[in-house]
Amino acid sequence: MDYQAADSRYDQMQYRRCGKSGIKLPAISLGLWQNFGETDDKKVYRETLHTAFDCGITHFDLANNYGPPGGEAEINFGKVFKKDFTSYRDEILISTKSGYYMWPGPYGEWGSRKQLISSLDQSLKRMDLDYVDIFYHHRPDPDTPLEESMMALDHLVRQGKALYAGISNYPAGKTAEAVRILKELGTPCLIHQPRYSMLDRWVEATDESVHKNLLQVLEENGVGAIVFSPLAQGLLTDKYLKGIPDDSRVGRKLPNGALTATGLDASILKKVAALNELAIQRGQTLAQMAIAWLLKDSRVTSVLVGASSGAQLKNSIDSLKQIHFTSSELEQIELILNSSE
Ligand SMILES: NC(=O)c1ccc[n+]([C@@H]2O[C@H](COP(=O)([O-])OP(=O)(O)OC[C@H]3O[C@@H](n4cnc5c(N)ncnc54)[C@H](OP(=O)(O)O)[C@@H]3O)[C@@H](O)[C@H]2O)c1
Repeated sequence: MDYQAADSRYDQMQYRRCGKSGIKLPAISLGLWQNFGETDDKKVYRETLHTAFDCGITHFDLANNYGPPGGEAEINFGKVFKKDFTSYRDEILISTKSGYYMWPGPYGEWGSRKQLISSLDQSLKRMDLDYVDIFYHHRPDPDTPLEESMMALDHLVRQGKALYAGISNYPAGKTAEAVRILKELGTPCLIHQPRYSMLDRWVEATDESVHKNLLQVLEENGVGAIVFSPLAQGLLTDKYLKGIPDDSRVGRKLPNGALTATGLDASILKKVAALNELAIQRGQTLAQMAIAWLLKDSRVTSVLVGASSGAQLKNSIDSLKQIHFTSSELEQIELILNSSE
């Protein structure tokens, strides 16, 4: 059946300005790291994409290596996009990235000019797109001069293959340097994509090289933040409190950094159970509370969720109905997260 986007798609979603740029992102964006690969059900992920756009999610995040196998998520997204979303291209922001292992030999990963430029060309072919909206350097490269990686991003933006440049997983000090270089080149850094959740708060820790944390560096430089794995890959939900469901990310035993059973240790599950109780008291699911907790910080432009179905994504979007926390609730969350039992 042909897809027709809902007329109401802009009624509920909130949009937040990305740093000091002209771009606004939906408070919740959809990532395609998992659930869009070779063994995933096309009917399910196509419906997830429809639900996303119908609910005002205008931003889809990919990377060269998403699948599995690497490249498959871009291929699958490209097919659905061509069929269902081509006429909505100007309403949608698509991002991709490069930096993790993608092809054999010395140019298939990290941050050389050769690597970044070849990879975006491959991504555009896989998705059958003329351009992406945001192109990220996916991780800092300890061996390539930062100027070389940033000049490659600047080059791709000037070529029109990407509209904006971003960086991901860069610590605060290296972020400040990258932002400065991009500014000098005339292509401002639009956005940073770090991991951030109640269970992983490295972005709040001071980087001694600049005596600041990542969120401070981003705010000072007018760079947006889109935070990934906000649910700690599903751990910050009630799904693992009574065992491991077969159809969950852990149950499916996925490769390449996906959550595994070793991530479900008893002390973490105890915290998750206590957070779940608090979420119920707030009239939310734990997933919704975990997303709301991130959105309470105005420096977070967008929360980048994954979803294994449209219904699940809707549940996450409903977090927007209650993003306010009382100071007592925030204190209780800190107590739970810092408890050492
Ligand atoms: N830049 C980077 O290095 C990097 C790294 C990782 C991810 N990312 C980006 O961030 C995106 C999100 O990452 P993520 O998938 O790890 O995020 P996540 O939102 O923390 O985890 C998504 C998983 O949580 C579960 N879930 C989602 N919504 C739920 C809900 N409302 N109720 C219950 N369970 C729910 C689902 O697990 P089940 O499958 O078990 O149902 C889903 O697959 C990726 O797709 C990618 O775009 C970027």
